[in-house]
Amino acid sequence: MIIDVPELSLVALVGISGSGKSTFARAHFKPTQVLSSDFFRGLIADDENDQSASADAFETLHYVAGKRLTAGRLTVVDATNLQAHARAGLVKVAREHDVLPVAIVLDVPEALAWERTQAREDRTFDRRVLTRMSRDLRRSLNQLAKEGFRKIHVLRGVDEIAAAEIRYEKLF
Ligand code: GTP
Ligand code: MG
Repeated sequence: MIIDVPELSLVALVGISGSGKSTFARAHFKPTQVLSSDFFRGLIADDENDQSASADAFETLHYVAGKRLTAGRLTVVDATNLQAHARAGLVKVAREHDVLPVAIVLDVPEALAWERTQAREDRTFDRRVLTRMSRDLRRSLNQLAKEGFRKIHVLRGVDEIAAAEIRYEKLF
């Protein structure tokens, strides 16, 4: 599956924990193109899981995204992006810098994400958290276009995710 991405855009990965966003980002983008909420929480709080650092982490992430976009550099946001208000912040940054906001949704079965999560040492939340995320994802799918995302790519299941290939669209 070809995923068309304007060569200068703000790409939001969207997916529940364990859907494979960070793995996908590593596979398809340069490390410096990817701004992850975990990384920014770590920068602020010395702990990537410290949720109390989220507001400052996202403020900083948006700031860095803005600097990158000003310099004409594609930027990928690796966060769950399951909440409308979180995505609104990204759409705002994209608009302020005259670039298109693009969403790439990784939609895997909750049971698979849970299986992966249990095998991770860096994630300790319980199943109910994942169920809530799944519900938020379903809701998000209907809202992305209305929120201003100009391209929305939904990868359904591990096979589509594995087969995905990014193709950059020239702007002019
Ligand atoms: P959060 O950061 O918690 O939101 O999760 P994430 O969406 O970034 O998921 P991540 O990429 O960290 O993947 C979660 C786990 O699933 C990791 O242990 C990965 O190695 C594994 N995983 C991700 N994608 C794949 C895949 O395509 N195949 C397999 N076999 N494992 C995968
Ligand atoms: Mg991740």
